[in-house]
Amino acid sequence: MPTRKPLIAGNWKMFKTGSEAVETAGKLVELVKGADHTEVMIAPPFTALSQVFTAVKGTNVALGAQNLFWEAEGAFTGEISTGMLQSAGCTHVIIGHSERRQFFGETDQSVNKKIKTAVAAGLIPILCVGESEKERDENKTFSILDKQIKIGLKNLLLEDVATLVIAYEPIWAIGTGKTATKEQAQEVHRYLRGWIDKNYTAALAESIRILYGGSVKPDNVTALMAMPDVDGALVGGASLDAETFSKIVKF
Ligand code: 13P
Repeated sequence: MPTRKPLIAGNWKMFKTGSEAVETAGKLVELVKGADHTEVMIAPPFTALSQVFTAVKGTNVALGAQNLFWEAEGAFTGEISTGMLQSAGCTHVIIGHSERRQFFGETDQSVNKKIKTAVAAGLIPILCVGESEKERDENKTFSILDKQIKIGLKNLLLEDVATLVIAYEPIWAIGTGKTATKEQAQEVHRYLRGWIDKNYTAALAESIRILYGGSVKPDNVTALMAMPDVDGALVGGASLDAETFSKIVKF
């Protein structure tokens, strides 16, 4: 039987000032104290990371970033390095979110560079993959996912992928209230785990965590988490409120 500890991660996207973020994080810490059946992570905007770290340091809530850049430093206006993220207290980083691909020109190739940079720095990358509604309708879901994961993980060694987390986020389910059914999520998660098995090892496929993201709420998380290949959730909207997110954590 797999021994994958679930990870419930909150992606706060471009929401909350520093003080708002600290307030939510402080409430969350209280609400999820002792919830040790799952790992908890929140990813506030860059500007709130250091402040939020003071609220979560030493607790069971980990800190993550929503993006990174692959250079260590230099003339790259507006970008943030792994060293900067780690000095702000981050242990995790979300990479290749569909909103970054859609609005900021991220490609599978840039995602690959970012994953490599995160791994080399010792940050835990959460690699986001997922198809659009049109791609699903045209029966291209698996070929799209195949391409995203194949290029995203290009030249990564077994030990590099060992710490990685994959998040399946169907674009049509993000912020729409239209969650994938538990069967749809399971089908894709099984496919992704099979891909890892085929391209790495059966042991890695068994241990890698695959999160589902897309309109996860307190009332649908239990059914999703009951699926054998769903190992957690990447939550957007419902992670912004500490009370609501804590209910998801305690699914
Ligand atoms: P929602 O939970 O708001 O659908 O967002 C999902 C998401 O994009 C998490 O990264």
